[in-house]
Amino acid sequence: MESLDPEALGDLYAESVRPRVARLLKVLKLDVVYTRAEGDRMEYSDGKTTRSVIDMLGGFGSTLLGHNNPELVQALKGTLDAGLPVHAQASIRTGAAFVAEKLNHLMRTHGGDRRPFIVTLCNSGAEAVEAALKHALMEWNERRRALIEKLELLRSEPGSDERRIDSFIEKLLALQPAVVAVQGSFHGKTRISSRRAASSTSASPARRSRACPGSARWRPCFSKRCRARAESSA
Ligand SMILES: Cc1ncc(COP(=O)(O)O)c(C=O)c1O
Repeated sequence: MESLDPEALGDLYAESVRPRVARLLKVLKLDVVYTRAEGDRMEYSDGKTTRSVIDMLGGFGSTLLGHNNPELVQALKGTLDAGLPVHAQASIRTGAAFVAEKLNHLMRTHGGDRRPFIVTLCNSGAEAVEAALKHALMEWNERRRALIEKLELLRSEPGSDERRIDSFIEKLLALQPAVVAVQGSFHGKTRISSRRAASSTSASPARRSRACPGSARWRPCFSKRCRARAESSA
């Protein structure tokens, strides 16, 4: 690997990782290999000299604190030097507990929300988008379930208009949630996050089928009536 020159590395990247992006980088003369970074500067070699450029992109926010931020580097080095386990799944993970407590504190003091939140930590933007969508869909479904339960109670009252209530419940059960996405946006490569961007009206059929091969129908449901319907149509 190390013996490959930047051009050969570019070809390798194009061949096995991101063919179209690699072609675009070449056209834009951005097909360089950065070898060092500090703060808002990144360095690459043009074969003769080392060149330093200002990073105006900042990893879309992921390097908001600057490349190799000294405090973060120190914390990482400290973790490695202490020989801490990196994957001890069935255990109390103190770092996660501290981050969760801090986030809850921020939500209380700046978000004005005093509820104690359970924090699910994830590794990527796509997972964050998935979690947000899942949360929104669960909330949507929970509200529908509560409404159906109220209607079912109403229906059991003497003198209620059973047929009208039934037809309303049927309509509620047939409803599908709609998620609005910005045209041409990118939200990650997992199935649901890519589906958001691909289902926007501007997406080509090819892009849609690339992003979500096969058909997906997600109708999570919790009321007895919903479950019975789902089971009978399965
Ligand atoms: C707006 C937006 N959402 C989601 C993602 C996906 O993030 P990741 O590549 O970390 O899964 C990106 C990545 O560029 C993004 O820009």
